[in-house]
Amino acid sequence: MCGIVAVIDSQPVKKTIIGGLKKIQYRGYDSAGVCFKSDLKLVTIKVKGSVAKLETELNGYDGEIAIGHTRWATHGQVCEKNAHPILSSDKNWAVVHNGIIENYKEIVDERTSEGECFFTDTDTEVISSLLSANDFEDNLRSVLWTCKQLKGSYAFCAINKSDNHVYAAKHKSPLYAFCDGKMSMFASDPICFPKGDYYKFEDDEICKMSKGKLEFFNFKGEKIKKTLQKYQNINSSADLNNFEHFMLKEIYETPDVLDRVCDVYEKLDLTALKKLKFSSVKLVGCGTAYHACLMGAEFFKRILNIDAEAVQASEFRYGKQIIGSHSLCVFVSQSGETADTIAALEKISKKKAKTLVITNVPHSTLSQMGDMHFSTCAGPEICVASTKAYCSQVVVLYLLTMALKSEKHFYQALRDVRKLSEQIQKFFINISPFAEEIAKHDKVFFIGKGIDYITALEGALKLKEISYINCNSFPAGELKHGVLALVDEGTPIIVVATDEKLYEKTMNSALEAKSRGGKLFVISSLLPQAYELKDFEMCMTLPKVPKLLRGVMAAIPLQLLSYKVCMIKGLNPDMPRNLAKSVTVE
Ligand code: M6R
Repeated sequence: MCGIVAVIDSQPVKKTIIGGLKKIQYRGYDSAGVCFKSDLKLVTIKVKGSVAKLETELNGYDGEIAIGHTRWATHGQVCEKNAHPILSSDKNWAVVHNGIIENYKEIVDERTSEGECFFTDTDTEVISSLLSANDFEDNLRSVLWTCKQLKGSYAFCAINKSDNHVYAAKHKSPLYAFCDGKMSMFASDPICFPKGDYYKFEDDEICKMSKGKLEFFNFKGEKIKKTLQKYQNINSSADLNNFEHFMLKEIYETPDVLDRVCDVYEKLDLTALKKLKFSSVKLVGCGTAYHACLMGAEFFKRILNIDAEAVQASEFRYGKQIIGSHSLCVFVSQSGETADTIAALEKISKKKAKTLVITNVPHSTLSQMGDMHFSTCAGPEICVASTKAYCSQVVVLYLLTMALKSEKHFYQALRDVRKLSEQIQKFFINISPFAEEIAKHDKVFFIGKGIDYITALEGALKLKEISYINCNSFPAGELKHGVLALVDEGTPIIVVATDEKLYEKTMNSALEAKSRGGKLFVISSLLPQAYELKDFEMCMTLPKVPKLLRGVMAAIPLQLLSYKVCMIKGLNPDMPRNLAKSVTVE
C-alpha cells in the first residue's frame, strides 16, 4: 500500500506534490512526508497523520525537486520516525517506498556488521542504506546495484543531495511517469498527473528523471524505449462536488454508473466471451469484491446451471484448487492492484484454465492480466468503503452470465439493469431513524438466506469498516446452531429478506432471535402483513426489481445506513482507521 509522488519542475513543486499526495491518500493515510532538494541539502518534513496535516507543516519549505509519501504502515509503528521519506544514515539519499522488502532483515544484519546504523523500524531503510553503501560515480549505478539486492515488492523514488535527478524503480508495485517537456512526475497512480498521456513502469525497470526529461533503463542498465499510455477520460470526477464525503457521493452515483455500464456493454463485442467452453467456474476476489464473486457464483449456477464457487483470493493462493482446461476463473477487483487477487491469478497462469478479469481501474495491474478483461465503468472510487463499485461488479457479472446464456437473455438483462438504475434513483431514502437506533449498539447481526445472505455479508462488512461496530452476518438458518447464544436484550438483527420463496423461513429464524430479546430491522421486497409489524422494530420495503438484482437494490439502504451510523459516531467514512483502499501487500 502507501502512495508515492515525485516531481521536478522549473518552479516550486510544493503545490503539485501535496495535490498528488492528496489524490492517492486512498492508498494509506496514517502518516505522510515530503523531502525537498534545495541547493545541496535534503530537507525532510514528516508527520503522523494525513497529508492535510503535512501541508500545514510546510510553511516556508519548497523546492524544484521533491519526493513525497502517504503511508499505510507494514513495518514499524505509525510515528513520525517511521514515516517516509527515509534518509540514509549519511543523509545523502532520501527514499519513498511502496511495497515490502522481504529480505530486509538479512540486509540489516549484513549492513550492521559493516558498521551501518539504522534509525527507523521500516523495511524501507535498507533501500536508502544500500543506495549509500557504494561510492559509484554515477548514482544510476547505485540504484541498479541496490535493486539487485532487494527481494519482495517495491516501487520507490530516491533523490541524492549531489545531483538534480529523481530515480525510480519498480518491481511488483505499481508506478507511473509523466513528462510534458517541462514538468516530470512519478506516482503510484496516474490520477496524480495533469491530464495527458503517461508511461507505465513494467517490472524491473528504472527511470532517471531530469528537468523535462525521462530516461528508462532495464535492470542491466540498458536504455529502453517506452510507449506512451493513452490517458483514459473517465466520465466521473474524483472531486467531492458539494458532497461532504466521497462515500455519500459515490453511493449517489450508482444509478449513473449502472446506466454507463449498460451504454458500454450494449456496444461491446462479446463474441469471444460467447465462444468460451467451460464446465466449472471459480470466482476470486477480496472483501467486497469477494461478495460480488459470491453473487456471480449464484448467477452462474442459476442462469447457466454450471458449477460455480467463489473463493477469497487470500485462501485461493494457498488452498488446493481443482482447475483445468474445463475451468473458467473470474477475478474481480475494484482497484486491480490487490496483491492477493493478482497472486491468485498468477498461481493459475500455468494451468490451461480460461481467465476473465473484472476491474474498475483501467490502467491497473490486473487489467493487463488474464485472457479477457471487462470494466465495471464505475469511475474513480475514492472512499475506502466500496459502494458504487460493488453494485457495478454485481451488475457486470449479471450481464456477462446472461450474455453467456443467449443474446435474448443479454438484452433482457440490459433492460433489467436500466430498470434497477431507475429504481435506485428513486430510493435514496432518509435512513436516520434506523441509523440512530443501530448507532447505540456495539454489536449488530445481519441475517439472510440464499442471495440475501450474501447481501447480509456485504452489509455487515460495510457497517463494521466505517463504524467500528462489531458486525457479523449469518445464514438465517444457522442462528440456532450457535449464534443465538450471543443474542440478548436489544441486540439488533438486520434481516434481509428479498426472496418471497425464502421469506417465511427467514422470518421464522428472525422471530427465534426476537424471542431471545433481539430487535428486528427488516429489509424486504415484500410489503409486511399488518400482524407482522408488531414484531419489527423497523421495516423497509424495497422497490420491485428482477429477483437476481435484488441484492444490489438492498445494498443501497445498507450502504446509506453505514454512512449515517458513521456520521452519528463522528467518524470519517472515507478513511477508516487501519485500512486503505488499495491493498497492495499480502
Ligand atoms: O480493490 P479490490 O476490489 O480488489 O479490493 C478488495 C477489498 O480490499 C475491498 O473490497 C474492501 O473489502 C473494501 N474496503 C470494502 O468496502
